[in-house]
Amino acid sequence: MASEEELIAAAREVRQNAMAIFSGFKVGAAVLGEDGKVYTGCNVESASYGLTICAERSAISAAISAGNRKITQIAIAGGGHKPTMPCGACRQWIWEFGDNVSLILIDEGKHIVRKKISELLPEAFDRKQLEEK
Ligand code: THU
Repeated sequence: MASEEELIAAAREVRQNAMAIFSGFKVGAAVLGEDGKVYTGCNVESASYGLTICAERSAISAAISAGNRKITQIAIAGGGHKPTMPCGACRQWIWEFGDNVSLILIDEGKHIVRKKISELLPEAFDRKQLEEK
């Protein structure tokens, strides 16, 4: 089981691989899978801008591809001096792939913000609603 420090270090490390030549905004994410292992991802931008994938969804895809069905924690490392908040699409993924996942949001300095995904995406849509049909 990885510590919070390990998750933060992994997010910062993978951020260096971000392919952010259009925005210049590099993001790294590290998730803790239900298997106790750390999976990482960075943002990958496309010349067709809308095809860009965010770091959070890259990392969650890596965890799912390794056989996990849930994550428990995610660390997100962005640029600047204010912790990066996940975009709306990533909030939806984080909600769907865990049980009220814990987020650790960090900047390039020492700031850390801790949130639960239920705080960032209240009254979320998910598979339970599909069963209501
Ligand atoms: N980005 C992320 O990787 N995660 C987020 O939650 C916010 C935005 C990336 C996408 C794009 O490559 C760059 O940051 C600027 O939007």
